[in-house]
Amino acid sequence: MKPIILITRKLPDAAIKDLKNQYHIDMWEEEDVPIPREILLEKSKNVDALLTMITEKIDEELIANAKQLKVIANCAVGYDNVDVETATKYGVAVCNTPDVLTDTTADLTFALLMVTARRMIEAEKYIQNGQWKSWSPFLLAGKDIHHKTLGIVGMGKIGSKVAKRAKGFDMNILYHNRTRKIEVEEEIGAKYCSFEELLRTADFVVCLAPLTPETEGMFQKEQFNMMKKDAIFINVGRGPIVNEQDLYEAVKNGVIGGAGLDVFEKEPIDETHPLLTLPNVVALPHIGSSSVETRMRMIQLSCSNIDQILKEKIPHTLVNKQIML
Ligand code: GLV
Ligand code: GLV
Repeated sequence: MKPIILITRKLPDAAIKDLKNQYHIDMWEEEDVPIPREILLEKSKNVDALLTMITEKIDEELIANAKQLKVIANCAVGYDNVDVETATKYGVAVCNTPDVLTDTTADLTFALLMVTARRMIEAEKYIQNGQWKSWSPFLLAGKDIHHKTLGIVGMGKIGSKVAKRAKGFDMNILYHNRTRKIEVEEEIGAKYCSFEELLRTADFVVCLAPLTPETEGMFQKEQFNMMKKDAIFINVGRGPIVNEQDLYEAVKNGVIGGAGLDVFEKEPIDETHPLLTLPNVVALPHIGSSSVETRMRMIQLSCSNIDQILKEKIPHTLVNKQIML
């Protein structure tokens, strides 16, 4: 019998063609609606591989009952939705999609910084609402980006590509990370500093950290209070790294200048979310890596990782490398 692969979202045929030729594919048929938890749990019992999205919680309950499962290929660079420790305990490979989305996500991050600083969304709404009656000297005047100080929290591959873009804008670049990144210091001139120093000096604080027990709740009232009064906070990492209520109050009360957010504590958010009432907050629906080319590459990499594991080969991007030892 052919190995069974469960794909938890409707993906284009072109992207999964190679898998389809070799394996039995069971694909959830909706593009915009996640597979219900009960169906996922039931189906997982008999599958050899899972191709998952960040909307699925792959926890011990699921893994312990998935007796044939060999690989979880999460179609994202972040894998906080997967219990990697349990997967490792059960000998299940966990794969993610780094590298292929690095530049695309860095583009979105820098774009979000720019639209927030220059109030472009507000400006577009202004025209749409028929409010533009005349040119005026300080009409929708925003904040400069060039020659300002950027502080990157979480200097991984995406962070270093954001730094590269910032260099082109003549920005002064600071970063904070668990480990020093000498290459980025040498190539781009980014300077390492403590989290507190970064918060106190940066005009733009950009969070690109993964969600881990160490980063959860890293940005709270205390951190926003340390930031400059006109600083802009950008989050393209994960929502729970930020206390959203504290962020709301900081922006509302003018403790900081504004925020650009691609991720939220609980996704999706709807139109009643308090942050959306603040004109100096730009909110995006978690589209950091969402270009057609990159999403195709992420799907193909996930498929290829599954194929490798099912052929007992080393996958391209394995998170829990210890299972291969
Ligand atoms: C998306 O958020 C990802 O981690 O790729
Ligand atoms: C992603 O690949 C990162 O390390 O930021």
